[in-house]
Amino acid sequence: MSAMLRGLAGKKVLITGAFKGQGFNHAKAFADAGCDIAALDIIEPIPDVYALATKDMMDATIRAIEDRDQRCVALPCDLRDEAQVKAAVDKALEEFDGVIDIVVNNAGIAALDSITEMRGNVMDAVIDTIVKGHMYVAKYAVPNMIGRRQGKIVNISSAVTGSGHAMLSHYVAAKHAINGLTEAWAMELAEFNINVNAIAPATIRPGEGQGSGMVLGLAGSIDMSPEAAYDHFSTMGNVPGDKWRAEMQDITDAVLFLASDNADKITGHVMRVDCGQMFR
Ligand SMILES: NC(=O)c1ccc[n+]([C@@H]2O[C@H](COP(=O)([O-])OP(=O)(O)OC[C@H]3O[C@@H](n4cnc5c(N)ncnc54)[C@H](O)[C@@H]3O)[C@@H](O)[C@H]2O)c1
Repeated sequence: MSAMLRGLAGKKVLITGAFKGQGFNHAKAFADAGCDIAALDIIEPIPDVYALATKDMMDATIRAIEDRDQRCVALPCDLRDEAQVKAAVDKALEEFDGVIDIVVNNAGIAALDSITEMRGNVMDAVIDTIVKGHMYVAKYAVPNMIGRRQGKIVNISSAVTGSGHAMLSHYVAAKHAINGLTEAWAMELAEFNINVNAIAPATIRPGEGQGSGMVLGLAGSIDMSPEAAYDHFSTMGNVPGDKWRAEMQDITDAVLFLASDNADKITGHVMRVDCGQMFR
């Protein structure tokens, strides 16, 4: 039997944060594997947070998926607003004949705040996007999976859940919540044949435009170049050696694996694509 990833062609995949960064890379890879994409992302800025996706990026995402001869439903949506999430999931279901096979909960933001000078609006934005936003996505997407007794959910956590990180406590707390949700959902959804797993990425090489924006954004707030910040965070977290630097594609490969039939017996697992950060 082939060692290729099995069972992806023809699947309907909803990805949050899909207009840029890792989510955009995941969307293109799923389309290359023959999947249709429901691409959900915010296109308005969030005050005091670095640049996120834009309408131009949404249009570029639609083109990238359609260039791969797959369908793309673009869902501009702020995950912090339950009504917007419900409308977005409903639209995806309507466009995809009542089917969502795979959900990738990828959207996220971070910021650098000390404990004592934590900005309330930023803390809310980080936690509401990562934690509550993805609980809303599950609330509205999971009934479809339950009804069809199948589905795969891949949550994006972070390697920060494997070691201590100063100045990121809102983000670290939110990503620990993602690990907790992964186990809670895996247990609750097991009887319906739904797999729920997470990936904890190391620091990802930043890129302008539709590249990975988190390190770029954090670097901007501390007056560091993106490349210097990438080196700094990678050196702090990863095991030593040039090999141990992560790129978006390293995460995309793991996402597609967990979404494929090859991972059918894996559930409740946090896969650390973390360049050794956890055991270090
Ligand atoms: N970049 C890293 O080093 C790194 C490391 C570990 C984990 N991660 C995680 O990977 C994921 C992707 O990060 P990235 O580097 O591609 O960052 P990115 O900023 O390029 O992408 C994040 C996406 O989430 C979207 N988003 C943010 N808030 C939203 C909201 N309220 N509603 C809807 N969409 C929203 C943004 O518009 C953007 O498209 C995030 O969950 C992040 O926490 C990143």
